[in-house]
Amino acid sequence: MKALFFTGKGGVGKSTLAAAAAWQLSERGFKVLAVSFDPAHNLGDIYNLQLGHKKKKFTKNLYLQEADLDKAASAYIAQNIDILNEVYSYTRAFNMDLYFKVLRYSPGVEEYASLTIMEEIFRSETGFDYLVFDTPPTGLTLRILALPNITVTWIDRLRRIRKQILEKRYTIHNISGQYIEKGVRLAYQEEDDRVIKKLDELWKRYAGVYKILKSDNTKLCVVFNPDYLSLRESQRIITGFKDLQLGLHVAYNNKYQDSLSDVAQEVEQRLLNGTTGVDLVRVPMHDYVRESAYAFDFDVTAPFR
Ligand SMILES: Nc1ncnc2c1ncn2[C@@H]1O[C@H](COP(=O)(O)OP(=O)(O)OP(=O)(O)O)[C@@H](O)[C@H]1O
Ligand SMILES: [Mg+2]
Repeated sequence: MKALFFTGKGGVGKSTLAAAAAWQLSERGFKVLAVSFDPAHNLGDIYNLQLGHKKKKFTKNLYLQEADLDKAASAYIAQNIDILNEVYSYTRAFNMDLYFKVLRYSPGVEEYASLTIMEEIFRSETGFDYLVFDTPPTGLTLRILALPNITVTWIDRLRRIRKQILEKRYTIHNISGQYIEKGVRLAYQEEDDRVIKKLDELWKRYAGVYKILKSDNTKLCVVFNPDYLSLRESQRIITGFKDLQLGLHVAYNNKYQDSLSDVAQEVEQRLLNGTTGVDLVRVPMHDYVRESAYAFDFDVTAPFR
């Protein structure tokens, strides 16, 4: 399974190229799922279809989905409150229902919700040859892509702290026998501890996503236009990928016109200066109006086949 991410400044053509790539790959016989993560979805508009959180069949080989980040964020918080209540069932200190509404707006929730959907797709949609992701605005995309690694590092730390707690409990157990708090026998060994179990489960999930993001089967693409505004934002994306130690694979110079070839060339050079192994694809500005914007004459899939 291959995963393609289309990133870039607003309006450069991310959704159009993601939709065109998904369509063209499916027409070549590959099974494709295209997913929009942009809160302001337009994948459905491009395919002239009403899309939702559940994937919808478009043709035999092509399925489409618009991730409902709002719903996912609420579900993410509700699930975590359940976990806290379950794991810490002996205490009422974590009665967080009261904070539910506020937590929905806390920093990071949208990112974790997006990552949770992405992780579920990677885990469950293994029947597809290609997963094509249309991404949200740059900042959010970079934060989502940064999360798996950050989370794994945090879980490692939390696990170490939890181990120390269990060791202290073990010492108490040796002195005073079974350790019981409010009628609940507390675990003092790793294999009995629900917190460790949960941390290990989360570790596995996030490490799995990180592995996929770093894998050769994942292609990160930046879409830009032959102009200086999109150059600056694309440079920030490329720097972001470098910081996250993720490789850029394809740069699409979209809406290319021969009349702009001088500017286009300069933008390409400045953008890709010093980067290696990036496929540069010039996608011409089309001058026809079509209702089905995914049906592109120009082949955008060459770098993925
Ligand atoms: N190669 C092209 N030739 C002509 N028009 C194009 C081309 N690519 C995209 N467009 C047009 O540019 C506009 C923006 O495209 P699109 O919605 O795909 O961009 P986007 O990067 O997804 O934008 P947003 O950030 O708003 O999600 C659309 O009207 C689209 O039809
Ligand atoms: Mg878009």
